[in-house]
Amino acid sequence: MVEFTLPANSKIKKGLTHPEPQEAESIKRFKIYRWDPDAGENPRTDMYTLDTDRCGPMVLDALIKIKNEVDPTLTFRRSCREGICGSCAMNIDGTNTLACTKPIDEVNGDVKIYPLPHMPVVKDLVPDLTHFYAQYASIKPWLQSKTAAPPDRERLQSKEERSRLDGLYECILCACCSTSCPSYWWNGDRYLGPATLLQAYRWIVDSRDEATGERLDELEDPFRLYRCHTIMNCSRTCPKSLNPGRAIAEIKKLLVSRR
Ligand code: SF4
Ligand code: SF4
Ligand code: FES
Repeated sequence: MVEFTLPANSKIKKGLTHPEPQEAESIKRFKIYRWDPDAGENPRTDMYTLDTDRCGPMVLDALIKIKNEVDPTLTFRRSCREGICGSCAMNIDGTNTLACTKPIDEVNGDVKIYPLPHMPVVKDLVPDLTHFYAQYASIKPWLQSKTAAPPDRERLQSKEERSRLDGLYECILCACCSTSCPSYWWNGDRYLGPATLLQAYRWIVDSRDEATGERLDELEDPFRLYRCHTIMNCSRTCPKSLNPGRAIAEIKKLLVSRR
C-alpha cells in the first residue's frame, strides 16, 4: 500500500461537522477535503457521519449518499460505478484508488478522502487532468500503419501477439499511478509518468503497429522516460492490478537492445 501524508505546514483546516444520523446502529465518519475556488478561502476538511446500514458498501456509495441527502455542494467525479471509467479516482485512507471499488469496511476508523495528490484541484475531490490527458495524447495512442488494411477483414493477430497486450489494454487511465509517483510529482511537466508510459508500451508491442521505431525515438529522452527511478509506487497502487513499472522497464530494455 502506498501512503501519503499531508505536509506539516498544510493549510488544510478543520471544517464543518455535519450532524450524525438519528438512531443509527452502525455509524462511520467520513473526513472529506473541501475547496471551492469561488469562495476565496483555504481548503478545509468537513466531517460527515453516515449510518452504513442504510448505505451501499463502497466509498462512492457514501459520497453519493452524502451529496443526495446531506450536502449537495460536495463535488466529485463518477460515471460507471464499477471500476471501468476511472473517473472516481481519489486518495482514500492514504491510498490512490477508485471510490467505486473501495469497500467502506476495509477502512479502519474514519474514512479520510482527498483528491489525487499533487494535481491542481478544480473543486473538492475533482483534480484537473488537462496536462495528464495532453501527455497521453502526445504518445499518439492509436494504431499507426503504412500498410493498407485487408479489404475484407480486420488486421489479424496470432494468439501470442494478442497476449502481449494483456496487462496493458486494461488500463482505464484513472491516473492513480502517475499521482503516486514521486518523480511525476516533481517533474510532471516533462516526465510522462507511469500511466502514459504504460500506454506508450501498449502501442510499442502491438504487432499491427508500424511506428515502433518512431515511438521509441520519442521516448528516448532524459525527462520523458528516464525520470522513472523504479520506485514502484505506481504498480503498488494501481486499482486494476497492472504493472506500469514493469512496462517502463521493458521500454528501457528495448531502447538498450536497439543501440
Ligand atoms: S496503470 Fe493502473 S493506476 Fe495507472 S492509469 Fe492505468 S489503471 Fe490507473
Ligand atoms: S517505478 Fe517509475 S513510474 Fe513507477 S512510481 Fe517509481 S519512478 Fe514512478
Ligand atoms: S465510477 Fe467509474 S471507475 Fe469508479
